[in-house]
Amino acid sequence: MIRLGVIGLRVGMRHADAVKICGKAELAAICDTNEETLAKGKERFPNADTYTDYRDMLKDPTLDGIVVATPDNLHHEMVIETLRAGKHVMCEKPFALHSDECKDMIRVSEETGKILMVGQVCRVAPAFVKAKAIVDSGMIGDLYFIESEYAHDYVDIKGWRMDPEMKRHPVTGGGCHPIDLVRWLAGKEAAEAFAYGTHETLKDWPCDDSTISLIKFDDSLSAKVYVSVGCKRYYSMRTVIYGTKGTIIADNQSSTMTLYVDKLGEETSLCGTKMREVGHILPVDVASHNFASEINEFCDSIIEGREPTIPAEEGAKAVAICEAIIRSTESGKPEPIVY
Ligand SMILES: NC(=O)c1ccc[n+]([C@@H]2O[C@H](COP(=O)([O-])OP(=O)(O)OC[C@H]3O[C@@H](n4cnc5c(N)ncnc54)[C@H](O)[C@@H]3O)[C@@H](O)[C@H]2O)c1
Repeated sequence: MIRLGVIGLRVGMRHADAVKICGKAELAAICDTNEETLAKGKERFPNADTYTDYRDMLKDPTLDGIVVATPDNLHHEMVIETLRAGKHVMCEKPFALHSDECKDMIRVSEETGKILMVGQVCRVAPAFVKAKAIVDSGMIGDLYFIESEYAHDYVDIKGWRMDPEMKRHPVTGGGCHPIDLVRWLAGKEAAEAFAYGTHETLKDWPCDDSTISLIKFDDSLSAKVYVSVGCKRYYSMRTVIYGTKGTIIADNQSSTMTLYVDKLGEETSLCGTKMREVGHILPVDVASHNFASEINEFCDSIIEGREPTIPAEEGAKAVAICEAIIRSTESGKPEPIVY
């Protein structure tokens, strides 16, 4: 059994739960600066050592890996200290708020030879996993357009996310989910982004609360990503993937996804309507935040001594696209994506 610790016990509590059930690791340590939160953690995980200072936790030589699940602006410092302490790291998304921080963390991971994984959780959401498998099978042909979104209402969310000094732009904070998703589905690098932002719903927040962006991969593929943290609707990441031979509509909250493919539609009809018009409804598990799968992969990469399937570079590339989008809202021009 490998021994893992978790720093930050809000979303980190769900990572800790995932460690408990994965069967490959022991939850050996938990850390939170908030004593009340830490006490709740101790109640839930009585065998874990508790810390209010993560640096004390890092002194435990028996810990193999650490999950960093603290506010975004702390990832850089904590990841670097943890790698330097000789531990593998699984860092929550966004990997960091700025590309230079991402580069620092990757450099230290290379220097120390320790695994650095990023929690781009959409890559393990069952609907998106199935969509990616269909895309990679060639069934819907060559992709030419993908649209995705991060539509959330943050009206009741306060704290560090709206800190004017941190300036955690929603495009990086939440938008890194659909941005990473479209990049992963595309299977190639994005080149340029053009975006408009508005600031109409969360007036007391320091950044635009709604951003619409166009991302150009190359002359054959583009994407559209909508990010809103003040919209009045249900939370979802509805994603439509258009290929030359078919289309997939999927999101992270539904128990089904829809596949439209001409070839299958020729054979069947529903009350006289061709299947290609109504689509094929495919069942999927609902697990918008599949932390169990993430932790399982983190453990496997440690045990097998290999790169994780979502390495740090993937988180860094998502952040680079976010930065180009934000720059474009300021410049009013398309901006190159600088990796
Ligand atoms: N994968 C996802 O979909 C998803 C969902 C929510 C949050 N997140 C990310 O997870 C991270 C944490 O978000 P959250 O919603 O849990 O935030 P939160 O503010 O609700 O909780 C953060 C926790 O970290 C603790 N903390 C703060 N500073 C600390 C320090 N120096 N040492 C130890 N503990 C400290 C706080 O006391 C708190 O308990 C962020 O990076 C966020 O973007 C990811």
